[in-house]
Amino acid sequence: MNQITKLLGISFPIIQGGMGNISNAPLAAAVSNAGGLGMIGAGTMTPKEVEKIIVETKELTEKPFGVNIAISVNPHVKELVGLVIKHGIKVISLSAGNPAPMIPILKENGVKILCVVATVLHAQKAEAAGADMVVAEGYEAAGINSSLETTTFALIPQVVQGVSIPVIAAGGIGDGHGLAAALMLGASGVQMGTRFIATKEAPFHENYKQKMLECNDHGTVVIGRTVGKIRRLLPSLYIEKVLQKEKEGMSVQEYADMTTEHYHVNGAIHGNMKDGFVNGGQIAGLVSDVPTVEELLTNMMKEAKNRIAVVSGMFH
Ligand SMILES: Cc1cc2nc3c(=O)[nH]c(=O)nc-3n(C[C@H](O)[C@H](O)[C@H](O)COP(=O)(O)O)c2cc1C
Repeated sequence: MNQITKLLGISFPIIQGGMGNISNAPLAAAVSNAGGLGMIGAGTMTPKEVEKIIVETKELTEKPFGVNIAISVNPHVKELVGLVIKHGIKVISLSAGNPAPMIPILKENGVKILCVVATVLHAQKAEAAGADMVVAEGYEAAGINSSLETTTFALIPQVVQGVSIPVIAAGGIGDGHGLAAALMLGASGVQMGTRFIATKEAPFHENYKQKMLECNDHGTVVIGRTVGKIRRLLPSLYIEKVLQKEKEGMSVQEYADMTTEHYHVNGAIHGNMKDGFVNGGQIAGLVSDVPTVEELLTNMMKEAKNRIAVVSGMFH
């Protein structure tokens, strides 16, 4: 047990990060049932769509799970916060925007608040606003990243030093060694996205899982640098098109239009790589099998424990 397992009511300090419109009930419930914290991604969905997934998840698990709201991405933030409270959900994850306006009502209703940040300053602002924990995410991570491009290894110790609430490390963690390293850097746990794609319960298209297995250490692609909106993905024909458009000169709106959740769902759920994209982080090169979520979490805990014992032995 540590600070975050106690705060979140989970067995293992491992969180499955929210994933746009695609991290649905079976994946979130599988992670929570295996002892971690599963997370529904609200993405750009309507409150009605999200509520359906919440109800489904509750049917699949009695364990705590969370809902992620990417604030600048979803126009229904207030209603979604209302849903979290209405359904007695224990944990909310707020990313991609200013969480402060939502925090008082969440605290009044006993919801634990986890804010995703990529700088020490944003971590401190989240703490001052009343967040219970921060997820500090390096730019190795899959999906939307900070254009400051700070890596996890450099970010975590600085955030740990900068705040007094627990810090969860995200970006580039895919096994027990990564978990052990994050704990050594002062984090209280980890959040992963990339590694969960290649699990049996993840409801994603085989083409996505296959691409993840084939990706090597330098196989991911970053788009959006020219418009100051970075996203890390696995390569595809569609992404080649986006990169070509960026070379030719692209407006922020054109970029936004080409990277909507419509294309994300097309890639991740329908496996359409000609007219869709899939997120993937730099740790993809380490992913070489498709275990169940339970196998993944159990092995990670075992591996972290063994690694820490080996390293501790070096100091006797
Ligand atoms: C398919 C996919 C979609 C994602 N969508 C979101 C999202 O909607 N909101 C969010 O805060 N993070 C999102 N992320 C980031 C994850 O929640 C997580 O923090 C990140 O993947 C951790 O880094 P890793 O990929 O190196 O494990 C997404 C990640 C993936 C793989």
